[in-house]
Amino acid sequence: MDQELFTSVDTYIATLFMAEDDALKSARLALESANMPSISISPSQSQFLYLLALLCRAQQILEIGTLGGYSAIAMARAIPPGGRLVTIECSTKHAEVARANLAFAGLESVVEVREGSALDVLPQLEAEGAGPFDMVFIDADKAAYPAYLEWSLRLARPGTLIVADNVVRHGAVLEADSNDPDLRGIQQFNAALATDPRLVATILPTVGVKGYDGFALGIVKQC
Ligand code: SAH
Ligand code: DHB
Ligand code: MG
Repeated sequence: MDQELFTSVDTYIATLFMAEDDALKSARLALESANMPSISISPSQSQFLYLLALLCRAQQILEIGTLGGYSAIAMARAIPPGGRLVTIECSTKHAEVARANLAFAGLESVVEVREGSALDVLPQLEAEGAGPFDMVFIDADKAAYPAYLEWSLRLARPGTLIVADNVVRHGAVLEADSNDPDLRGIQQFNAALATDPRLVATILPTVGVKGYDGFALGIVKQC
């Protein structure tokens, strides 16, 4: 691995496309000040998610795993007036930092941060009649990724784009017989994505400031 080169090229891309503006930068600094983990998507990845949200003309977006709202800011910017993004976060502290970051970005009326464990909040959303979502971004606890895929499908429509972060995990995804519940969750998720007749999907490996990882991308054919 040539991490130094990957970091330099990633920084080149992020700078070239001005991926991280004031609001995103301020969100990143607020996360650092609050001693939250540095596991937000990267600046160049924020531009990629923004592009994906534009590509699928997303009006309703669901995110599982908010952290400080970095990825939510990126995706919410693609939403036309009247649309919304719902993002789920189980940590009160993270949800509070995210709300402040979203307000600073001028997106408080577009993004709703739902506090709670995702597997509790998702059935609530369904009961409220939320969705169908045009795009779903899965980025919370990896062990529950297979369950999040099922919930994404329940809240989707044909054509919905499902994106999931961290599905390569520096290559750890190749490990057979792992006892790590997070890794097993990712492996099961990838296998489900590949074989589920309701989906067309692939994995896009990524290298950059976050090292070697990948995004899963799936389009719902039927749900
Ligand atoms: N999408 C964010 C990063 C998310 S990090 C970004 O790129 O900006 C993962 C987040 O998921 C953490 O904040 C963690 O608290 C939250 N999380 C973990 N397990 C969860 C669960 N079961 N339900 C809801 N949120 C969860
Ligand atoms: C972790 C989680 C993430 O969503 C990520 O992008 C990187 C790391 C983690 O839990 O270690
Ligand atoms: Mg992630």
